[in-house]
Amino acid sequence: MKENYTGTPTNRVDGKAKVTGEAKYAAEFEAPGLLHGVVVNSAIAKGKIKRIDTSAALQLDGVHQVFTHENRPGYSWFDKHHQDEDAPPGSPFRPLGSDEIKFSMQPIALVVADTFELARYAALLVQVEYETEPHETNLEANLDQAYKPKKYKSPPPSSPRGDAAQAFERSAVKLEEAYAHPAHHHNPMEMHASIAIWHEGGKLTVYDKIQGVQNSQKYISTAFGIPQEDVQVISPYVGGAFGSGLRPQYQLFLSVLAARELKRAVKVVLTRQQMFSFGHRPHTIQKLAIGASEEGKLQAITHHAFAETSRFEDYNEDVVIWPGVLYDCHNVEVSHQLVGLDVYTPLDMRAPGGTTGTFALECAIDEMAYKLNMDPLEFRLKNYSEKDLNEDKPHSSKELKECYRQGAEKFGWANRMMEPRSMKEGHQLIGWGVAHGAWEAQQQEASAKAVLSPEGKLKVSSATADIGTGTYTVMTQIAAETMGLPLEDVTFELGDSTMPKSPLEGGSWTVSSVGSAVKLVCEKLQEELLKMAQNMKNSPFSEAKPEEVSFANGQMFLTHAPATSLPLTAILEQHEGEPIEAEASQKPDKEQKNYSSYSHSATFVEVQVDEELGTVKVTRIVTAVAAGRIINPKTGRSQILGGSVWGIGVALEEHTVLDHQLGRFMTHDLDKYHLPVNADVHETDVIFVEEKDDIVNPLGAKGLGEVGIVSVAPAICNAVFHATGKRIRELPITLDKLL
Ligand code: MOS
Repeated sequence: MKENYTGTPTNRVDGKAKVTGEAKYAAEFEAPGLLHGVVVNSAIAKGKIKRIDTSAALQLDGVHQVFTHENRPGYSWFDKHHQDEDAPPGSPFRPLGSDEIKFSMQPIALVVADTFELARYAALLVQVEYETEPHETNLEANLDQAYKPKKYKSPPPSSPRGDAAQAFERSAVKLEEAYAHPAHHHNPMEMHASIAIWHEGGKLTVYDKIQGVQNSQKYISTAFGIPQEDVQVISPYVGGAFGSGLRPQYQLFLSVLAARELKRAVKVVLTRQQMFSFGHRPHTIQKLAIGASEEGKLQAITHHAFAETSRFEDYNEDVVIWPGVLYDCHNVEVSHQLVGLDVYTPLDMRAPGGTTGTFALECAIDEMAYKLNMDPLEFRLKNYSEKDLNEDKPHSSKELKECYRQGAEKFGWANRMMEPRSMKEGHQLIGWGVAHGAWEAQQQEASAKAVLSPEGKLKVSSATADIGTGTYTVMTQIAAETMGLPLEDVTFELGDSTMPKSPLEGGSWTVSSVGSAVKLVCEKLQEELLKMAQNMKNSPFSEAKPEEVSFANGQMFLTHAPATSLPLTAILEQHEGEPIEAEASQKPDKEQKNYSSYSHSATFVEVQVDEELGTVKVTRIVTAVAAGRIINPKTGRSQILGGSVWGIGVALEEHTVLDHQLGRFMTHDLDKYHLPVNADVHETDVIFVEEKDDIVNPLGAKGLGEVGIVSVAPAICNAVFHATGKRIRELPITLDKLL
């Protein structure tokens, strides 16, 4: 019978390649005569380059060129506002665009040499004189400069419902607080890297660390004014990205610039410190006011966010949509305002806006539960919303209640004592906290190609990415199951701009979008196989309609009479040793528009806080997730575990400290930028709650990439309050804040 590959925990098909080092990442490719580029970054945050002297660097034997704003070619792109696929509204930064310095660590020169060591040494010899102008990097000090962006990246924060101000005034119980989320920087294991290889005639092959090869391809084509078909971008493996690879970063432009000018192959790899010179999760201050009746019914929520952005782009994210998604409250007012600072534009980072907004909202909800003296879980259930009130639409499915139930049971929530500091063990204060979260389940148009060989081996491809989330594996499962072929007879290929069109791998939409296209292209192949079978002599399928045949074990058979079957290899003989091919593109179904679709999570956390030292240890995390059908419970679980670990970082560790005197992010390495390590991670449980959804997409699967992080940090904050009686509203919760 048919193998159910989807829904079955499946090992990564690329696992062996990854652990043996066979999997190649952008910086690891070779090219004849490969040169190495090292970036020089600005020492000041704002001003002008008065003089840049590259002569000492250029005198070294083996240094080929030093590119600066003075000698770079005059592409028209520099004067235009062409945007990449994930760009926020505004005018994107152009590396080496002019003498103007817009942020600290801005790339100002690329030194290209025979070896990396030489390029790095030569980079030290580049002399720069600046004309410094006063900079401003302090969000708190400039809240009076906040403005509403002319355009929002996603739909704008919803318009007010009811009368939040009046309802708040009339509420029996009121809460008004502000919450601060600091800037975070992307620190995937793999640093950003590009290798650009120039070919005779001007064509380019580019290896890039990116979440969308076709985005890089378009970017290069636009920047350098060359046809898209002359640029091939390849990125078979990505060592973590989480949003950092949604936009092409400056090393891509610089490597291509150098390759074209020198007619060579040039590699540029950013250092760990340079990972702090582009995009970050923005420092955001949120003001919340919540009103409730004495019985614990929400009466009013206002949620106002103030976030930093650069002076040149209005980066914004979904910080304030969550009251309307998560709660049943009819007087809601939200806003998202920006403060332009002399920093680089912030960048999407795992659940952009969701992580930030859910932290504040879910902490405030917990505070309100305490004001009402009501169990925080009970309070949430009392204000549970069956509808998405932002859009006034029903959910295509929502099993959040079941997440609460199963999560609470597994965690043992019923044994919780309400009173803070009441669950002490020796000098360890024990705290239990809960929070929930959601992430939109979106589908984008995507395409795939399938090739079935005469031997019955299937190859499916799409220009998507696998940032470590498991795309290779999940697509292989979907294709193998749809075609009824053994998993080992199916390969999935990705990460090449010549492959069928795919959206960026982000937004937790890859399974939904690319997976649906993979399913469709396999169904197209099946139609083709049926036609071929019908042309065979004495075909038992001559009268069969497509919906009457099934595929399993490498055979096609009549669903109602499985004994009537033909091996695919026998059918393929009709094609005289040639493979058969199909290509398909899948768009979201119009019916989806009538519904809201979100993945949901509920997280329960236990912390131990040392009463004397103020150290916080997260001893237990249970996250229950409802995200439609889980295609691969094994890689899916890893997504949620990753979210839990990152949530520990958000709550307790991560913080890029900005020195306002220098206008520079100072904690720019893994020594000072703290991330959770194994010693910080203890018992971590994941529950997948069954959720049936026929609307969200043909697979019934929602995304898992981002929903795992959103509810973790607030649950930890709430647990810390329960342990200590101290409410810390400024992340991260470090011991100095608890003592
Ligand atoms: Mo995610 S921030 O869409 O990689």
